[in-house]
Amino acid sequence: MNSDVDVLENPVAQSLLGHHAHLARRLGQAVTYLPDVATFCAVPAEPDAVDWSELARLLGPGGFADMFSSPALPPPDWEPVFELEGRLMLWPGKDRLGEPLPGADVSIVELGPNNVPEMLDLVTRAEPGPFWPRTCELGTYLGIRARGRLVAMAGERLRPPGWTEISAVCTAPEARGQGHAGRLVRALVERILSRGEQPFLYVAEANSGAIALYERLGFESRKPVTFRGFRTPG
Ligand SMILES: CC(C)(COP(=O)(O)OP(=O)(O)OC[C@H]1O[C@@H](n2cnc3c(N)ncnc32)[C@H](O)[C@@H]1OP(=O)(O)O)[C@@H](O)C(=O)NCCC(=O)NCCS
Repeated sequence: MNSDVDVLENPVAQSLLGHHAHLARRLGQAVTYLPDVATFCAVPAEPDAVDWSELARLLGPGGFADMFSSPALPPPDWEPVFELEGRLMLWPGKDRLGEPLPGADVSIVELGPNNVPEMLDLVTRAEPGPFWPRTCELGTYLGIRARGRLVAMAGERLRPPGWTEISAVCTAPEARGQGHAGRLVRALVERILSRGEQPFLYVAEANSGAIALYERLGFESRKPVTFRGFRTPG
């Protein structure tokens, strides 16, 4: 399998123009997700004034432009909202998927739109990063329950051609250190590889625990990225 790493330069656009086209709003070359699916936006790699004004019209005055990992900077009258240093990590090859952790009594369940309330509840407790009521429509989301309550989940988010991003990896504070996140990420890696795609993910640079977990599972750091969000003028 030879997935083209270049498509990860603009993963939001590559997803919205392809696999996630049914979840896209578009004006000219500016593109974003439907409300409640994701706030991520994209413009061409070297946007001009028209591209930015189309994105501004798409989002409306004072709209939130979550530019994800794009290095392109909007015009100066767009107000910066956040900036976060992170890293892109890639799955290097199938042979790195080692023996599963023990824990035969732990079963992994598939989560869907009916599970959104418990997914949002877990997100509130575990804070994995952006997750909205329709985010689970982006791909497969898997979870682990303990005594009936959802305590861990992970899922598929961006889908540029040949790749699937693993995201929303989280475990409730009381259930950490039992291998749940590792189990879920492994299950997703297997699914993604089995359909001939390569897994990738992003993690905040400050999140050393998650970075260590992903490295133990076999992911390799590819490059630093900066996540940025802005507010459109008006
Ligand atoms: C990062 C996070 C997802 C890890 O979840 P987790 O379920 O605790 O992860 P795991 O149990 O698979 O692995 C974590 C540790 O438990 C250890 N462990 C795994 N299986 C174990 C077992 N059966 N018994 C005891 N410890 C175990 C792992 O070796 C690992 O060791 P470490 O303490 O050296 O890191 C969790 O801390 C979390 O939700 N953080 C907040 C949200 C977040 O940052 N998400 C990542 C976004 S990119």
